[in-house]
Amino acid sequence: MDTHLSREITCCPVDPTKSVTSLTEDVVAGLFASNKRLPPKYFYDDHGSELFDQICDEPEYYPTRTEDALLESSARDIVGRVKPDRIIEFGSGMSRKIRHLLSACSELEYYPTYVPFDVCDEVMIKSGRELVEKFAWLNVAPLSGDYTAGLGNLPIKGECNLVIFLGGTIGNFSEEQGVMFLSEILEVMGPTDRLLLGADRVKDPNVLHAAYNDVAGVTAAFNLNLLEVLNRDLGANFDRENFEHYAFYNPTKNQIEMYIMCLHEQEVRFDKLRRSLRFREGNVICTEISRKFTREQLEDMLRQAGFKICAHYESHLPSFSLVLAAPP
Ligand code: SAH
Ligand code: AVI
Repeated sequence: MDTHLSREITCCPVDPTKSVTSLTEDVVAGLFASNKRLPPKYFYDDHGSELFDQICDEPEYYPTRTEDALLESSARDIVGRVKPDRIIEFGSGMSRKIRHLLSACSELEYYPTYVPFDVCDEVMIKSGRELVEKFAWLNVAPLSGDYTAGLGNLPIKGECNLVIFLGGTIGNFSEEQGVMFLSEILEVMGPTDRLLLGADRVKDPNVLHAAYNDVAGVTAAFNLNLLEVLNRDLGANFDRENFEHYAFYNPTKNQIEMYIMCLHEQEVRFDKLRRSLRFREGNVICTEISRKFTREQLEDMLRQAGFKICAHYESHLPSFSLVLAAPP
């Protein structure tokens, strides 16, 4: 039996291979511009990660339970095809859905190492501990860092890797960024490695609208937590009462657009930047887009990045896709 000590889980940083902008740079370029925006990765401090986990259980937020059920039904097929020695998960969060793949691995007698890769260390350690409790054979080796900072230092060489990117997080990239990110993944993959991509599908705009406007207000709290991140990390003085969550589905672009909207004029100081910024009633900050795909768009995006499609698992009502893709 392993001792508690030997099962201690620690995160290994992944050194960037390209320069990424800092929070300060993103705020200067994104908030001080007339078209205000911030990258969604800043949502996920410890509190934001907890709020995202709560969103996943909200009745309106169908993607998590839909993808979860789809993974449960397709896991044996996926594991049987890939026979992974290592499963690397980008943006693993609470690592909820990996359980289905790991259960299928146990049943089929494959024992891969699980490598979650996320910006939030705390959630990887917490969920890693829970996973090793459930799967006695499992080695969890979390990677800590920003997956948009280049993948050249990803420890992926020499084994049969199943790279997974779930939850529809690919939809939080623009079209161009999405293809570029998938190409970067492909570049570090070996010939027997496979990518499993989870993506949300175009559907009834009312279902989509409700998913990002849950009645309990958890998505609103998740969105507005970004102001707390700016207050804490940049010494800003956003008063949350002056701002509101605003999200809607744009059916001409097939995307959710999520904003923080100013309700009452406020001069916001950023002590660490030695700058201040006036927000007027109705000013908005775009905090996230969440793109939804048709089956064809999804497969086209993967092909454009250089992948070939091996299998496409779909659920209907609500629709969601898991695509297994391979190097050409
Ligand atoms: N895959 C999970 C969680 C999705 S939430 C699911 O399907 O439910 C998105 C996750 O990606 C969060 O855990 C967040 O911390 C992580 N994330 C977002 N941007 C990131 C980045 N640039 N680099 C690494 N992790 C990131
Ligand atoms: C992580 N990502 C796929 C979520 C989404 O649905 O776009 C983030 C989220 N934003 C609001 N609710 C959930």
